[in-house]
Amino acid sequence: MKILLTGANGQLGRCLQDLFPKTAEVLALGSAELDISNQSAVNTQVEQFQPAIIINAAAYTEVDKAESEPEQAAAVNTYAPAYLASAAKKVGAKFVHVSTDYVFEGNGTQPYIESDAVYPLGVYGKTKLAGELLVQSILPEAIIIRTAWVFSEYGNNFVKTMLRLAKDRPELGIVGDQLGCPTYAGDIAKVILATLENSAPGGIYHFCGDEQVTWAEFASAIFQQAEQQGKLAKQPKVNAITTADFPTPAKRPAYSVMSTAKISEFTAASPWRQSLATVLSRLD
Ligand SMILES: NC(=O)c1ccc[n+]([C@@H]2O[C@H](COP(=O)([O-])OP(=O)(O)OC[C@H]3O[C@@H](n4cnc5c(N)ncnc54)[C@H](OP(=O)(O)O)[C@@H]3O)[C@@H](O)[C@H]2O)c1
Repeated sequence: MKILLTGANGQLGRCLQDLFPKTAEVLALGSAELDISNQSAVNTQVEQFQPAIIINAAAYTEVDKAESEPEQAAAVNTYAPAYLASAAKKVGAKFVHVSTDYVFEGNGTQPYIESDAVYPLGVYGKTKLAGELLVQSILPEAIIIRTAWVFSEYGNNFVKTMLRLAKDRPELGIVGDQLGCPTYAGDIAKVILATLENSAPGGIYHFCGDEQVTWAEFASAIFQQAEQQGKLAKQPKVNAITTADFPTPAKRPAYSVMSTAKISEFTAASPWRQSLATVLSRLD
């Protein structure tokens, strides 16, 4: 079983590599080995390797920076997935792509389902949505997993930022009016493998954590568990602030909770509190 993985050095890319079966022949490429926005490089790699499966874990993920770099964000999030989908189609490979809760406007009150209307608020969400649409038009059999609030022991993420800040600040102001579901990248890796093993039908699937929280509540959970594990001497006080108090270049959805009912046939939602404990235990 030949698997081509792009974005090998990102959070999801690293977690996937931890879980691939030993029997698989994996070609895991970081951006230095394969720039997915280079169509001829994508075609060459795919033609040479002849994978049975292509998993795209690469993305332009800097939500705020994307506002001032829309072309670069579109190159990676919109056009590159289309190049990968076309290349997969040519060699008859299965294709798994990953998208985001930021395709939604965030004014909902019920967990978003896959067929709900999309209305991204910023460049990142717009470029990811355009990528989904191109992938679906080229390869309807492709599996597209929308996920949210990703954390892991790898790369940069909210968990690591909070732990860093907590080391020298007794009090922190954290956004308390955005609701979402934290998701462990290792759980996304598991669900990707489960959809492949079970030959899940092509289409969009939502996958995220099993419990909704605000960023402030997520931060409190991180501090509580980190203190319990002896990774933090003392929990800082968390003051919930409003989105208006913490202006960012990109607007973010106030409510980005997604329903995992459709994907539950293959796996349960990410048990994020349990996964958080695992991630913390792996950090220094
Ligand atoms: N992080 C989140 O909170 C979040 C939320 C919702 C959805 N998602 C989606 O989940 C997926 C995985 O995200 P993640 O958190 O694992 O992201 P990540 O840690 O930021 O990793 C993204 C990877 O993409 C690579 N990349 C960027 N441009 C590339 C290019 N032109 N060619 C090849 N590789 C390139 C980066 O490589 P370099 O570092 O070498 O540039 C990086 O290793 C993405 O599709 C993302 O949109 C993430």
